[in-house]
Amino acid sequence: MSRRVAILISGGGSNMAALVDSMTGDHPARPVLVASNVPGAGGLAKAEARGVPTAALDHRAYPDRAAFEAALSDVLSRAGPDLICLAGFMRILTPGFVDAWAGRLLNIHPSLLPKYPGLDTHARALAAGDAEAGCTVHEVTADLDAGPILGQGRVPVRPGDTPERLAARVLEMEHRLYPAVLRRVAAGDRTPLWL
Ligand code: GRF
Repeated sequence: MSRRVAILISGGGSNMAALVDSMTGDHPARPVLVASNVPGAGGLAKAEARGVPTAALDHRAYPDRAAFEAALSDVLSRAGPDLICLAGFMRILTPGFVDAWAGRLLNIHPSLLPKYPGLDTHARALAAGDAEAGCTVHEVTADLDAGPILGQGRVPVRPGDTPERLAARVLEMEHRLYPAVLRRVAAGDRTPLWL
């Protein structure tokens, strides 16, 4: 029986597309939903083009974070996911939501955690003079960008790199790492993967 995967996005959804495109053949999982907190997110069109059911819940239409998360949990519950992949999802989730979906939430973050949790990761790596950068897939816990690491991918920092150029190099690695980690986790293996 395939594991059921929901994917949460806020923007272009390139990581979502990489995940969906990887779930074919003998892959132990299949996508069942792509949901966005931004109604016009470009990733929704990518998901629809791939035949994946979508949902858009504008977080600004809810009186507070808890109300938005209750609506999101309702949409998720109807899809019945075994795993939920946050992929460019830019909302901080409350401990209540994380507890409700404990053990099933994965996220990709564009840094080599525990370095640079939060935003502007590439600019911070460049400012620090790091020789390498990368991305991390981790389990989502109540602490932002701090859950158990499921995989990391490293890329070199090159002379003259700007945050944009480094982000593009890291994004290519994200599109390799996240599908590889999802396949392992869907097969029941949570040992970390290093690329
Ligand atoms: C990526 O850098 C991802 O690491 C971050 O959001 C960016 C855009 O992701 N969380 P996507 O193209 O929307 O998947």
